[in-house]
Amino acid sequence: MKPLYSPIVQGLSNYRDENILRFHMPGHYGRSSFPELKYLAENIFNFDITEVEGTDNLNDPHEMILHSLNEISQIYSSKKSYVLVNGSTSGLYVAIDTLVDNNSHVIAARNCHKSVHSILGRKNVNVHYIYPEIDEIFHNDSHIDSEKLIAMADALLAEGITDISAVILTCPNYFGRTFNLKDISDYLSSKNIFLIVDEAHGAHFPFNECLPENAISQGASISIQSAHKTLPALTQACMIHLGHDFPKSRMERLEKNINFYQTSSPSYILMASCETSVAIMARYGNDRLNNIKIWMESAKKKLSANPHIKVYSSSHCNNDQDFCKLGIKTPIKGSVLEKILRQEYKIQCEMSTGFNVLFMIGLTHTQDDIIRLVKSIEALLKNNELLFDDSFESDFGLLYPKTENVKNYILNKGENNEHLLIISKNVSDLDEDICAEEIIPYPPGIPLLMPYEKINKDIVKALKYHEFSEIKCFVTV
Ligand SMILES: Cc1ncc(COP(=O)(O)O)c(C=O)c1O
Repeated sequence: MKPLYSPIVQGLSNYRDENILRFHMPGHYGRSSFPELKYLAENIFNFDITEVEGTDNLNDPHEMILHSLNEISQIYSSKKSYVLVNGSTSGLYVAIDTLVDNNSHVIAARNCHKSVHSILGRKNVNVHYIYPEIDEIFHNDSHIDSEKLIAMADALLAEGITDISAVILTCPNYFGRTFNLKDISDYLSSKNIFLIVDEAHGAHFPFNECLPENAISQGASISIQSAHKTLPALTQACMIHLGHDFPKSRMERLEKNINFYQTSSPSYILMASCETSVAIMARYGNDRLNNIKIWMESAKKKLSANPHIKVYSSSHCNNDQDFCKLGIKTPIKGSVLEKILRQEYKIQCEMSTGFNVLFMIGLTHTQDDIIRLVKSIEALLKNNELLFDDSFESDFGLLYPKTENVKNYILNKGENNEHLLIISKNVSDLDEDICAEEIIPYPPGIPLLMPYEKINKDIVKALKYHEFSEIKCFVTV
């Protein structure tokens, strides 16, 4: 019989055979270098079961799953924790659908992941965007200013908008930058407003004191973490943690939503992987992270000494930057650097955007891996000066319009809709047009444009960079 082509298995085998040094998710980086991971790997088929006598049920846990969730909750100091098998995307749907009431108002960071915008767009709510500060060197989102957020909420309340259900923030950002949530949560709890934190990239925070403080311990009502991003877990393993002010009255809705937004056949492999990754962090996390911190300090020092390399947050040694993320900016376009690094140096980064490239580091990496990464980046730049781009210092790279520019451009959803028509326009012909569709470069999965936002010159530049040829716009008739 002719063998089946099996293109997915072929493609994955090819990637394995390239023998790539991975600095990209998932957070095991293709290595099962802990006995706990080996044990899981050896038992993949044995452990892939469905709900049978003695194996409990994720959608109504009473036995082993409940015990596992209790252990996770204890480790994360949460009121209660849940394991999810459909990624932080499903966790954000659950959290927002549970805490945001229909017809209410929410304040959402504009740099939230697309899943936040998607669920908000499907609920009948009024969304007020808060814009993050822009990093002056990397031209990407930096942090949310707590004073600005509090002033914004105060202004809404002063306008008579008293039904603000929740504030939704992403912390840390993709590059590992965090900000103080404590002042925000103190303020919000005094106003009975929930704080929902997308902490997809922060599941490892509680395991080393030099990492930023996690959202729950700063008073968040709920936090959503992807175990597969920063713990040695399989893709889609995720957790929801409830803060200590999470009201009993919302618990039933939360648990109903957990069932609603997930598969009815949750994978025991993913549950076991999530549990194992947390156990590994509890057992070895602190020591390993101490080592990683030292290796990364030395790597950042070396890279920063190169005149062609800027290191993201190299100066933030205080606890507002995750040292397991290495973001660099070089004079070579990020996507080009990514390609050369893969082809010639057998290294795969997590992502590139503009002139920025991001690498993720975790518990299965060694010091030699970090040394090889640094040497490869240095050699690549030395050997490819012809690829240095004049637009290096240009202001390209804003992920979304700057606050001052866009604030007044967002029209009320539905307002004057009868006078609006949707047409496709060539990107080169855009001039102060109103966007009619979501435009989401992935990664990082943050909408560059949302419907009703006005397109400015920076956005046109970014659209061209991302090679959009045309987009849908509203025109008045
Ligand atoms: C900030 C942020 N939130 C949420 C998500 C979605 O996470 P998941 O892939 O676990 O669904 C991502 C994915 O990249 C993300 O970067």
